[in-house]
Amino acid sequence: MTPLPSGPPFALRARILSPMADGGWLDELDGLLEVDAAGRILRAAAWPSGAEAPASVFDLRPHVLMPGMVDLHTHLPQIPNAGLGSGLDLLTWLDRYIFPLERAYDRSVAEHQAPLAFRAFAAAGTTTVVAYSALWEDSTDAAFAAAEAHGIRAVIGKVMMDRLTYDTEIEPGEILETSLRQSEELASRWHGADAGRLSYAFTPRFAVTCSAEMLRESATLAARHGAYWQTHISEDAGEMGEVARLFPQARDYLDVYDTAGALGARTILAHAIHLSAREVARVVETEARVAHCPASNLFLSSGMMPLGAYRAAGMELGLGSDLAGGPEISIFSVMRAGAVTQRVLELTGTAVRTDALRPLDWIRLGTLDGARALGLEGTVGSLEAGREADMIAIDPRFTSPLPNDDPPEAAEDLASRLVFRPHPNMVRAAWVRGRLLAGPPGPGGIG
Ligand code: GUN
Ligand code: ZN
Repeated sequence: MTPLPSGPPFALRARILSPMADGGWLDELDGLLEVDAAGRILRAAAWPSGAEAPASVFDLRPHVLMPGMVDLHTHLPQIPNAGLGSGLDLLTWLDRYIFPLERAYDRSVAEHQAPLAFRAFAAAGTTTVVAYSALWEDSTDAAFAAAEAHGIRAVIGKVMMDRLTYDTEIEPGEILETSLRQSEELASRWHGADAGRLSYAFTPRFAVTCSAEMLRESATLAARHGAYWQTHISEDAGEMGEVARLFPQARDYLDVYDTAGALGARTILAHAIHLSAREVARVVETEARVAHCPASNLFLSSGMMPLGAYRAAGMELGLGSDLAGGPEISIFSVMRAGAVTQRVLELTGTAVRTDALRPLDWIRLGTLDGARALGLEGTVGSLEAGREADMIAIDPRFTSPLPNDDPPEAAEDLASRLVFRPHPNMVRAAWVRGRLLAGPPGPGGIG
């Protein structure tokens, strides 16, 4: 088995494929990637000839080095029910499959499950994860502690609900104040921890379960802490009907969050499938970010988001697994669901083929675009000098239809294999700041 560097500094020889911040691609069939002692990329380039080559190098060929995937939207307590409950509408599915799990996600469950979850994310190639926990302060704290120990880059938030809550203990009059206080305590403890590797997201679940006051107060706290603010929007017909009933004075669903002062560059809106033209324009104007969750949108029959039109309007988007609304942890699987969705929209005449994303566009969406959605494009999302070394090594032979086939040389073809034939074992290593993450099995193992 090829040895792997467990921490910086180190140099790797491998194929390198990465989006670049200037819009281009770094595509080296035989490349060199050097990481300095602080875990930053010193150089990512063609393998140098002659004396310039480093004296000591880990040779990972034919593995492909890529930036780690950014999962903009997932739910830690829901993971055990991934793949269960398809065919139910969102609100029924939440009641039957999700709220019981979240209610049970206490500190001891989180201490057991969160380390396993972060290993599973790393094994799927995700090095940055944006997650909801449950309503509980102590299990959210345990999830942060697990992320701190594991090494993954994480944004986490305690779910807030002051309507239809599954907290059966709390007095109704105390819900709002308690939820705000606990969220603020967690933000004070964790936002910016480990030099910014961990961040806090104020997390009102969605307008169905939150009063206008909770939305407004949580947005105020997020702004005060410089933290993120995340919620769901416009996912499912039943949910949208409820929001219209609960907020009759609002112009539309987005207006509920807008009126709360919650829309800005630190806002992450999940799903956003059925936005009107006005809502699309307003999301773009406020610079709010959208987590596109196509695998979940298909699994729960929520709908098909018009990604091409949203991108053409200038919306900032990234990808989310939305476990357990989405059945799979891998952002590569999410790309495939997204690509299939776009094809169906084309075939039904709802989208035009020229707007369709190419495989490399999907890889960019799952990496650098996700980082940009978090305001981290200068830090992670691409393999460029000065960025922190958040990256993965993929064995592309796992995506071949026949064993031992040589992987395609052209970047577009390699990307196409990764998007349309992702394999659960193809990610062999993952690093954050040059530190090897537990989860992926290491190189080797193919025939
Ligand atoms: N809307 C409100 N809560 C949830 C959730 O947990 N999952 C999904 N997919 N949608 C939601
Ligand atoms: Zn969700």
